[in-house]
Amino acid sequence: MFNKITVVGAGHVGESCSLLLAQKELAQEVVLLDVVEGMPIGKGLDQVQAGPVLGFDTRVRGTNDWADTAGSELFILTAGVARKPGMSREDLLKTNAGIVKSCAQNIKHYAPDSTVIVVSNPLDVMAYVVMQVTGFPRNRVVGMAGILDTARFRAFLAMELNVSVEDIQALVLGGHGDSMVPLVSYASISGIPLTYFLSREKLEPIIERTRKGGGEIVAYLKTGSAYYAPAAGAVQMAEAIVKDKKRILPCSCYLDGEYGARGIFIGVPCKLGRGGMEGILEVPLTPEEAQALNQSIAAVRSTMDELATLDY
Ligand code: 2OP
Repeated sequence: MFNKITVVGAGHVGESCSLLLAQKELAQEVVLLDVVEGMPIGKGLDQVQAGPVLGFDTRVRGTNDWADTAGSELFILTAGVARKPGMSREDLLKTNAGIVKSCAQNIKHYAPDSTVIVVSNPLDVMAYVVMQVTGFPRNRVVGMAGILDTARFRAFLAMELNVSVEDIQALVLGGHGDSMVPLVSYASISGIPLTYFLSREKLEPIIERTRKGGGEIVAYLKTGSAYYAPAAGAVQMAEAIVKDKKRILPCSCYLDGEYGARGIFIGVPCKLGRGGMEGILEVPLTPEEAQALNQSIAAVRSTMDELATLDY
């Protein structure tokens, strides 16, 4: 286990992350940080008091003070505003870029050797901001999106086929937006290709629902966005890093020539272990999937171009 993991932002995603981290005892101490006075301290106390019932000894310490994060080995960065109905993740760009920049400055100052899992939206571009501001190497900045998007795809497939989610393997690549790319060629149920179970016509609405899965929840919640599944995704990444599991998971990684792109974060399969993002797997894609990935890369690039025009 790690000594200290900090969750930045104690909103719904952040508080869910800290409880999951504690339940899994991934660190001796989980620091839950937020700018709202007192709020993370109350949530931290509440979670500590869940420990005797749920059976964990991890101490959750809520705080408003960045100094308490000093020496953290790992950060989960959830700070920022969430979208409201009708908004795209890209609509959050200016506000969240400013918030994420200031968090990244603090991370660099208080924990220069840490690894950062980015969850704030628009995800791929916020991961880029963290890498720029901290100057960390690419193995120590990685975005959580592919696990969430893939989990949605797996959940919808399980519902359609009435099979266990555990037996569904899938991969969703690309940017964390409507242009994401669910890979049918890599989807299977216990190794049996998905196309054995579902025709292309039946698959199409499932793929579309996966792409719009975040927005579907925002439309119901009205005041925010999803948090249980995003937190579960971030903590799965944390577990892979803390336990040096060498898991192969779809994450937003800084590309340096892989998949024909450079200087941009995009969801790709990678290996996660104690070294953070330990390597990108460049898997063959069908011409259709390669084209869709290129379109997704172009969509993220246009948000990055917008970022470059902003004073944040
Ligand atoms: C989602 O897709 C919040 O971006 C997150 O639900």
